Amino acid sequence: MSLLIDAAYGKELDRPPIWIMRQAGRYMKEYREIRDKYDFLKMCKNPDVATEISLLPIKLLDVDAAIMFSDILVTAEAMGGKLSYVEGTGPLFSNPVKTKADIESLSITEVPEKLDYVAQLIKQLKNELKADKPLIGFAGAPFTVMSYLIEGGSSKDLKKTKQFLYRQPELSHLLLEKITSVTIDYLNMQIEAGIDALQIFDSWAMYLSHYSFVEFSLPYIAKVIDSLNKPKNVPVITFARGSSSFYKQMRELNTDVISVDWNANLADVQRDLGNDIVVQGNMDPYVLYADKRTIQNEAIRILKSMDEFPSFIFNLGHGVTPDLDIDNVKCLVDTVKSYQKV
Ligand code: CP3
Repeated sequence: MSLLIDAAYGKELDRPPIWIMRQAGRYMKEYREIRDKYDFLKMCKNPDVATEISLLPIKLLDVDAAIMFSDILVTAEAMGGKLSYVEGTGPLFSNPVKTKADIESLSITEVPEKLDYVAQLIKQLKNELKADKPLIGFAGAPFTVMSYLIEGGSSKDLKKTKQFLYRQPELSHLLLEKITSVTIDYLNMQIEAGIDALQIFDSWAMYLSHYSFVEFSLPYIAKVIDSLNKPKNVPVITFARGSSSFYKQMRELNTDVISVDWNANLADVQRDLGNDIVVQGNMDPYVLYADKRTIQNEAIRILKSMDEFPSFIFNLGHGVTPDLDIDNVKCLVDTVKSYQKV
């Protein structure tokens, strides 16, 4: 019995489950202590360390689900991207994709072998977690992973990626096809290893025009989802920053849940989507910088607005930020968990 899986399939619940994007991270003293000892990628590749970190939000916050500790860019690294994480800057590829030859040199084979450390992590975590705490696996949406390979890191405007899309649409599709193939093998490996739910992160979709989203992002997410060897009990959650405008297109996906960014009124989106797709979201993470009364009020405002629906999944509109006070995050979790639908 798990609230998260029940909610994802639209079952009537007394309160929604809550988990938080980026719930295992730097706002936790316990995370920072481990991080001081290791390089970020080393932590991801060490199943013992990654297990310990994945369990922190369960131990410290008692959220309703664990998410495996990893990163969306491990697939790009497995394809040949030379990846490092630089303090204060974030991910960096020293060999960004510029030409057709760069794309051709990316490998799409032996994904389960190269990312076996993630399969090991999932198996270890499944041994540790009780049945009421499902384990969420994930991958980046092909477009978002492509943007990192082209930009070479995080970017404030995705200028190089958008230039690439408009100037070299055929090469863009070639690159997206390759990332899609790797993502499918990677998520199927996660299913095989015992994952309970999957989330696809299209974190940079909001920079795309409607037409670019429909051409360069949506069909590849669709192909990923449709290619999963998916048992009926492993729901798929699709997150996009930009979902408050793109949800109308995203409803064509065979996704069970759409994770909504903070711009939209969550209940309006659920009303538009109808009964077949459940929503996840969408409190502004910056609310967590306010006093506890404000955090409670903002959470209850979203909770009450969703009373008319059987269930939803409470989350933030994007990831939790690194410099928050953990007591404020705990206050949010406790507010949602003590809520009783009227
Ligand atoms: O949610 C979790 O607790 C699981 C772990 C997780 C991480 N990254 C750990 C991480 C997940 C689900 C991700 C996904 C991810 N990674 C996304 C999609 C989610 C989103 O936020 O949009 C993206 C875009 C990335 C790429 C990435 N990795 C960036 C941009 C950064 C730097 C940002 C930052 O906050 O510094 C990372 C590094 C990263 N991934 C950290 C963590 C905990 C910080 C690393 C550190 O300790 O220095």
